[in-house]
Amino acid sequence: MLDGTRGREEADVGDAQGDQLVVTAKEVAADGVVTLELARPDGGRLPDWAPGAHIDVTLAHGATRQYSLCGDRWDAHSYRVGVLREVDGRGGSAYVHDELAVRDVVTFGGPRNDFAMVPSPRYLFVAGGIGITPLLPMVHQADLVGADWALLYGGRSRSSMAFLDELARHGDRVHLHPQDEAGLLPLAAWLREPREDTVVYCCGPGPLLDAIADATTHWPPHRLRTERFAAAELGAPVRDEPFEVELARTGTTITVPPQLSVLAAARSVGATALSSCEQGVCGTCETSVLAGVPDHRDSILADHERAAGDCMFPCVSRSCTDRLVLDL
Ligand code: FES
Repeated sequence: MLDGTRGREEADVGDAQGDQLVVTAKEVAADGVVTLELARPDGGRLPDWAPGAHIDVTLAHGATRQYSLCGDRWDAHSYRVGVLREVDGRGGSAYVHDELAVRDVVTFGGPRNDFAMVPSPRYLFVAGGIGITPLLPMVHQADLVGADWALLYGGRSRSSMAFLDELARHGDRVHLHPQDEAGLLPLAAWLREPREDTVVYCCGPGPLLDAIADATTHWPPHRLRTERFAAAELGAPVRDEPFEVELARTGTTITVPPQLSVLAAARSVGATALSSCEQGVCGTCETSVLAGVPDHRDSILADHERAAGDCMFPCVSRSCTDRLVLDL
């Protein structure tokens, strides 16, 4: 086990099977940030992924966490994730930092991608702290395809900002803003001029995501794409009375009372539905909507995806209409 000192341990892989990953390397990437390299215990090929993807990692003590993949997408035999020690977290990051060791095995699901990179001639990437992790593969992808791009990267201090060495090769495309040296990210200056040819990707703490949403209200639609690590604050649901949900796969109709999630109500009659965060953040429970209008309460969908109304996240989302029909 590493104890927080900078350094690296490496392991030989064993021969366990299934959706398991063995920790093959653990490294301190910045103050409060470790990276894990993960491989199949038998060294086999891993599922492909694209920039923006994450995996669900179930740790030995049973907690499941979502981690963005931040390694080389063309390496089919290794995943890399970065993990911030959450001071007020639920214990998952402390476990990863303090107990998870090289040669330990975790189970995983995915990869899934709720933050996919769309083709564009120009990108602006905006990262706050550990929010750099999903953006790092995007930076490499933008570079690979010859897109015009810039990265604004903020953190508490330079020593808390991971991957600075990897980003250094991109020269003046990368704009670092350690808060103790340069203050907050200069969003207004960078976003003053709306650009039809630019997609803005932002990942970081809630206040940064709120600030960038405010700074892009005059931009063309769908130009800002964000990923949250924690659920956004939400107001009251559209309706506070019960509604009906038909589970199309069995034809069962259930009544969902205000105090129960659609997911919990569906499970109570035997529906099988995967879930992980149960906060509308990870995307695991995504379900197709076959009829009715969902009341979207997740932190994943973009406005135009909400408007389409053809999918929802039943761990948090509810109904605007008396009845929903779901592909469950
Ligand atoms: Fe994570 Fe529903 S379980 S979005």
